[in-house]
Amino acid sequence: MSSTEITFPEGFLWGAATAAYQIEGAAREGGRGPSIWDTFARVPGAVADAHNGDVACDHYHRSADDVALMKSLNLQAYRFSTSWSRCMPDGVTPNPEGIAFYSRLVDQLLEAGIKPWLTLYHWDLPQALEDQGGWTNRDTAYRFAEYAALMHEALGDRVRIWTTLNEPWCAAFLGYAAGVHAPGRQEPTAALAAAHHLLLGHGLATQELRRRDPEATLGITLNLTVPDPADPASEADRDAARRIDGQFNRIFLDPVLRGSYPEDVLRDVEHLGLADHIHVGDLDVIGAPIDVLGVNYYHGEAVTTTPSGEAAPQEGHAPLERPVSSPYVAAPGVRSVPRGLPVTAMDWEVQPEGLRRLLNRLQDEYTGPAGIPLYITENGAAYNDAADADGFVDDQDRLGFFDVHVRAMKDAIDDGVDLRGYLAWSLMDNFEWAWGYHQRFGLVRVDYESLERTPKASALWYARLAATNTVPA
Ligand code: NOJ
Repeated sequence: MSSTEITFPEGFLWGAATAAYQIEGAAREGGRGPSIWDTFARVPGAVADAHNGDVACDHYHRSADDVALMKSLNLQAYRFSTSWSRCMPDGVTPNPEGIAFYSRLVDQLLEAGIKPWLTLYHWDLPQALEDQGGWTNRDTAYRFAEYAALMHEALGDRVRIWTTLNEPWCAAFLGYAAGVHAPGRQEPTAALAAAHHLLLGHGLATQELRRRDPEATLGITLNLTVPDPADPASEADRDAARRIDGQFNRIFLDPVLRGSYPEDVLRDVEHLGLADHIHVGDLDVIGAPIDVLGVNYYHGEAVTTTPSGEAAPQEGHAPLERPVSSPYVAAPGVRSVPRGLPVTAMDWEVQPEGLRRLLNRLQDEYTGPAGIPLYITENGAAYNDAADADGFVDDQDRLGFFDVHVRAMKDAIDDGVDLRGYLAWSLMDNFEWAWGYHQRFGLVRVDYESLERTPKASALWYARLAATNTVPA
């Protein structure tokens, strides 16, 4: 850990993030309908130890206490997602009781002086829409815009920052190609259809929100990686890095920020039919102007096509009893090679310099020319926490992870990057998708028996940072 004290620009926003299915529980209460995650979690072998989100952190019943907890940690912003199937149980019909839950949450946040940052889609599609093809069906994009309008009608007077989608890469490629996330399909062509329709949904929702509320701050959150060729001298490795960059980063960045798909990506996926889904005018919709770009950064990777590497890391790649496929449909045979860096409990490399490079690249190639500021909407780490008798976790490893990443962020700001805030993943331990409750990302420990919350050492460190805007030496 570095030993100098650093101070962030005045007004830098410090907060934390969660997502509906990962924390709420109350899966069958208040008129909520089933989502694809309710269904998928019940597929034998799909989630480690058959865990599911039925109870999760029980946030649905504890939101007032959770907001008080956020306040005690000096959080200035809270990024949460609304559950589409709580607000529209069949994907189309409004459910006032479900919407009222979020209205209360927003009031509680504002009362506590915490800025609500709302994400409309964090992977929990209403099952009724999946039954009609889910994101492979173009109609889903239009339904999503209607859902955005409904949420804005209810909350737009108080929520001023809106994110359309969280990590469409995961929704499309882990959900429809790898099959490690809901809906668990393993069809590369479906994944490309889903990717395009997710983007279309983003564009339609952005246009709808903009029309209703020109003053709102609108954006999308992408999970972005920093792919390096394992051997920079090898042309094959450089091509592997290009393909990963294309299918992970640029397939989303380019349509949203440049209004076009990259030529090389279109070539890489030509056999998978992406072009068939692109209607005239779609890219104008997808490229509708946004106000902020949300970046979720966990790690980069060194990639190769030589067989000695390990399988490329996959988000949600838990040790499952169900066959999984590769999400890298445009990069067959590409593998990642460990670089000897420390890893988290997810086996993800701790690579803060990748964050600095990523932010500089985004600003240079995408957001800078358009004058769009960046926010880190997620960054964090799972470690094997050991709680003492009082439930306290002295998580120096996680604290160190946050420390090196916020320092990398400051380096990027000093490089000239327009970065405005940081939302730690996650406020509290929660349902980590295919890993169930086995991976803990929280600043706050959750005891899944008693549901008691206990801030970890990292939370106390973060609370001080949020209050002082300064990273201690
Ligand atoms: C990104 C996702 O948005 C979030 O839901 C997940 O828990 C974290 N990554 C950690 O895997």
